[in-house]
Amino acid sequence: MVMNRGTAFRSVVMTALWAMSPAYLPNSVALVVGGGPPIDGGRFWRGARLLGDGKTWRGAIGGFLAGVLLALGLNQVGTRSAGSLPVFPLRAALSLPAGAMLGDLAGSFLKRRIGRERGAPAPVLDQLGFVAGAFALTRLVAPGWFRSTFTAPVTVAALLLTPLLHVVTNALAYVVGLKEVPW
Ligand code: CTP
Ligand code: MG
Repeated sequence: MVMNRGTAFRSVVMTALWAMSPAYLPNSVALVVGGGPPIDGGRFWRGARLLGDGKTWRGAIGGFLAGVLLALGLNQVGTRSAGSLPVFPLRAALSLPAGAMLGDLAGSFLKRRIGRERGAPAPVLDQLGFVAGAFALTRLVAPGWFRSTFTAPVTVAALLLTPLLHVVTNALAYVVGLKEVPW
C-alpha cells in the first residue's frame, strides 16, 4: 500500500485510538455505574485510605465488562471493514480493560500515599495511570499482539492523545454534572 505522509499520520492516530479504546472506555463507564461499596472496604493504611471511596467494585467491574464488550464489538466492525485496524485477540480484549482498571486503582493507591484526597488532581497519575496499567498487563499476556500493534509511532500517539482525551472527557462529565470536579 502506498501512503503519503497525511495518510500515514491518520492511520497511526486511528490505530492508536482504536487499540486504546477498550482501555479508555472503562473509566467513563466506572464514572456512570460506579458507587456502592468501596474496594478497600473503608480500610486505612498509614493514616490514609488504602484506595478511597472513589474506587468501587461496581465501577471497576462495570468498567472492565464495558471495555471487553467494546473490544469484541470493534472486532466485528473491523473485520467487516477489512482495513488495517487491529483485531483484538481475547487476551488483549481482557487485558486492556483489566489493566486500565488496575492501573487506575494503583494511581489512587499512590495518590493516597502522597496525601491527596479522593478527587484531588494528580497530573500524570490521573491521566496515565490507567494507560501504564493497560500497557503493562497487555505486554504480559499478549506480547506478540502488543509488539505488532503498539509500534513506536502508535505508542507515541497513544501517550500524547490519552491525556488530551482524558481532560476533554472529564471536562464534559463535569459540565453535564456527572463529576464534581473537572479532572
Ligand atoms: N469510579 C468508581 N469505581 C472505580 C473507578 C471510578 O466508582 N473503580 C467512579 C467514582 O464515583 C469516582 C469517579 O468514578 O469518583 C471518577 O473516577 P476517578 O476520577 O478515577 O476517581 P476520583 O474520585 O478522582 O478518586 P481518586 O482521587 O482516587 O482518583
Ligand atoms: Mg479523579
